[in-house]
Amino acid sequence: MENFVITGGHELFGEVNISGAKNAAVAIIPAAILANDKVVIENIPQISDVKLIIEILDSMGAGVKLLTKDTIEIDTSHISYQDVGYELTSHFRASYYLIGAMLGRFKKAEVAMPGGCNFGVRPIDLHIKGFEMLGAKVDIVDGMVCANAEKLIGASIYMDTVSVGATINVMLAAVLARGLTVIENAAKEPHIVDLANFLNSMGADVRGAGTDVIRIHGVEKMHGCTYSIIPDQIEAGTYMVAAAACGGDVLVKNVIPKHLESISAKLEEAGAEIIEYDDAVRVTRFKPLTKCNVKTMPHPGFPTDMQPQIAVLLSIANGTSILSESVWDNRFQYVGQLLRMGANIQVDGKVAVIEGVKRLTGVNVKATDLRAGAAMIIAGLVADGTTTVENINYIDRGYEDVVVKFSSLGADIRRVEVKEKQTIQTAG
Ligand code: EPZ
Repeated sequence: MENFVITGGHELFGEVNISGAKNAAVAIIPAAILANDKVVIENIPQISDVKLIIEILDSMGAGVKLLTKDTIEIDTSHISYQDVGYELTSHFRASYYLIGAMLGRFKKAEVAMPGGCNFGVRPIDLHIKGFEMLGAKVDIVDGMVCANAEKLIGASIYMDTVSVGATINVMLAAVLARGLTVIENAAKEPHIVDLANFLNSMGADVRGAGTDVIRIHGVEKMHGCTYSIIPDQIEAGTYMVAAAACGGDVLVKNVIPKHLESISAKLEEAGAEIIEYDDAVRVTRFKPLTKCNVKTMPHPGFPTDMQPQIAVLLSIANGTSILSESVWDNRFQYVGQLLRMGANIQVDGKVAVIEGVKRLTGVNVKATDLRAGAAMIIAGLVADGTTTVENINYIDRGYEDVVVKFSSLGADIRRVEVKEKQTIQTAG
């Protein structure tokens, strides 16, 4: 197993290229099942969550060919219906998109309950409610979600909570249903829009993605297409926060600046300067960081998946910041690691009060989940001395070439082999 060893205290300078979006890729790849044809997907990120979903499709009989480093061809015309057991789904959350995609194509699905990062309770009641409203019968038997429908018929579905996963799953099940499906209080994240564009490229009729009402007219049949995945909003945001936290001048390339506005706004408030270009953002920071309050919200609010990273920046900013989490019940598990580095943070439920300190000090820390792992890297980069980050397999699930990318900006970060056995982590 491996750790990251980081020697902090360097400002970051240079350019970094952002990869395709993880949370779009893990929805778009299973969505190819609906095509019953050949689909070419470009800008695939080289991360372990994506490798897992590709392996699952391969094991179902989809011919998956690697055309270039980041382009795959998936032929789902010979795919056969099969159950997807726990050994395949337990390592990541997005395996539940197989339910929507298989239900859409085969009118039945049996998929083990998904794993994923532990932020407290992660129910799938809204997914189930959506499938049932489309006419499926859904049971959970021995940890398997079993969905069956004689036929799927469009329905009006109101989401009680804004849920990325439930919105995507209902979209997947509804594109081949008979008639009109309306999803109200839908999630608006960039990857929802990306999935809708992909489905439409395969012949679906999905309108309104990116607003809180999505209308899907069921079609008889879908077909193959070539599609390029959007850049990863959270990977981009992570490098932006790292640049602002360390200081320096970094051009974050291959991004959609509009997706980054909530992050840019908070970094400017904290003392960084942000310049937007057509497909890049430049982050410079040469003056001291100052406190700011951040509340996570569904898109277009500040993303919960950037909460641990911004906490590191606030922990070395002048003054007291309030960081509120409004999406997950328990997303401050990493705070204990930052306290060990000298941060002054008090957590009360879903609110963290962060009193800025002069410096963090390098110690051994653990990635407690994917984005917490990214935060530990940023903490190591700003800290005095050497930080060792353990459990980095979490980070590999969502960040392509993280050592190469940070090193190219002047960071001192290495991946080192260690003898101790670590347990397999789950993410997503
Ligand atoms: C997606 O998870 C992302 N994962 C998460 O990113 C992200 O944190 C989250 O959306 C919010 O943006 C993937 O896309 C694979 P939700 P998801 O359903 O879909 C409640 C990362 O780091 N809820 O939008 O599982 C739920 O408890 C990962 O890349 C229900 O009550 O999140 C939560 O409070 C981690 N019932 C809220 O909705 C349901 O049936 C939002 O969850 C479903 C969700």
